[in-house]
Amino acid sequence: MRDFFPGLAGIPAAKSSVSFVDGEHGILEYRGIRIEDLAEHSSFLETAFLLLFNRLPTKLELEHFTSDIAQHRRIKYSITDLLKSLPEQGHPMDALQASVAALGMFYPADHVREEATRYLTAVRLIAKLPTLVAAFARLRRGDESIPPRDDLSYAENFLYMLTEKIPDPALAKIFDVCLILHAEHTMNASTFSGMVTASTLADPYTVISSAIGTLKGPLHGGANEAVIHMLEEIASEDRIPMYIDKKFTNKEKIMGFGHRIYKVKDPRAIVMQAFAQQLDAEAGSHSLFTLARAVEAQMEARVGGKGIRPNVDFYSGIIYHRMGIETDLFTPIFAMARVAGWLAHCFEQYQENHLFRPDQIYEGPHHRPYEQLDQRTTVRRKP
Ligand code: ACO
Repeated sequence: MRDFFPGLAGIPAAKSSVSFVDGEHGILEYRGIRIEDLAEHSSFLETAFLLLFNRLPTKLELEHFTSDIAQHRRIKYSITDLLKSLPEQGHPMDALQASVAALGMFYPADHVREEATRYLTAVRLIAKLPTLVAAFARLRRGDESIPPRDDLSYAENFLYMLTEKIPDPALAKIFDVCLILHAEHTMNASTFSGMVTASTLADPYTVISSAIGTLKGPLHGGANEAVIHMLEEIASEDRIPMYIDKKFTNKEKIMGFGHRIYKVKDPRAIVMQAFAQQLDAEAGSHSLFTLARAVEAQMEARVGGKGIRPNVDFYSGIIYHRMGIETDLFTPIFAMARVAGWLAHCFEQYQENHLFRPDQIYEGPHHRPYEQLDQRTTVRRKP
């Protein structure tokens, strides 16, 4: 009997120097640097540079990288037209996946092993994802998309394109730190999906579009959105026990809790919890944060001992919700950040490529006779 590991749990799929997680002690490092240090001192673009090039940039390098990103923020009219033609009730993750795949048709990047191609593709993808997300968010409600502004920081520009208002710098800073915290996380499902695509030597636009599709699911990036729906459904603290009981009885998951790797609280959730609390205090009013804290306390009492604790998605949505961002944009925002990590893994894959082609354990029949159509007796209404 051959060994089988459902979900490839615990099986290394690659060697990588992009990031490191110690799930027992709640440690996450990007290129060897603790995320708490990056959250305190870095910016999203500097962190993206670190992930892509395996070192912090010099002042001049950061200026050039920032300016290259600013220059590539615009999207072509035909991409805007494509976004306009999508169903307005469709999920923004699908719009993002479709438009990223379409970008690859405008900027062919077949020479994936050339450094110049890789740099320009990375710059274009990091620069244009926020423009795509903000444009679809506006176009779907009949508003014109807002062109990017080169004089604004990465986070400020995104919030501006979304709302037509230049955000408060402190709020933009919190948003930027959220992007840092979502930028990378070792061999998760979307990264693996992108790497499988990269291993066929497909171009980075195709790789990122695969990863976006995988991130969408509620067991992965889609959980941030599901957390808000859950908290809205719970609505008040006295209803928490009943809600948790029902979920447990039905063998359903509580969104934003649990992680394949972490057995302690996700270190990203700790930073984001502090921001959510700060925003509550500054607003002088309680948001979903208070309710979330009560859910966490009750989950801790019930399943904390099994290592089921808040993950990155539990508090991130509460921050975006407080910022007035629509719930179904949370996962696209996650993708805007994670594109840096996906690209770093994709470039590692191109460098030492070996086509992913796992095996399977076949459990079906052999030597099955072919029955002629008029001899088949099984009655089925639909195939
Ligand atoms: N709520 C209730 N029980 C849970 C939860 C949860 N959120 N997460 C795990 N468990 C329980 C399972 O029921 C199972 O219990 P059992 O052993 O008694 O059957 C045990 O913990 C193991 O759970 P698995 O699903 O097998 O663990 P796995 O490592 O595959 O799951 C996952 C990790 C998918 C993240 C899971 O915890 C989950 O579904 N969480 C909710 C969705 C979520 O928040 N996803 C975001 C993850 S972070 C990210 O992707 C960016």
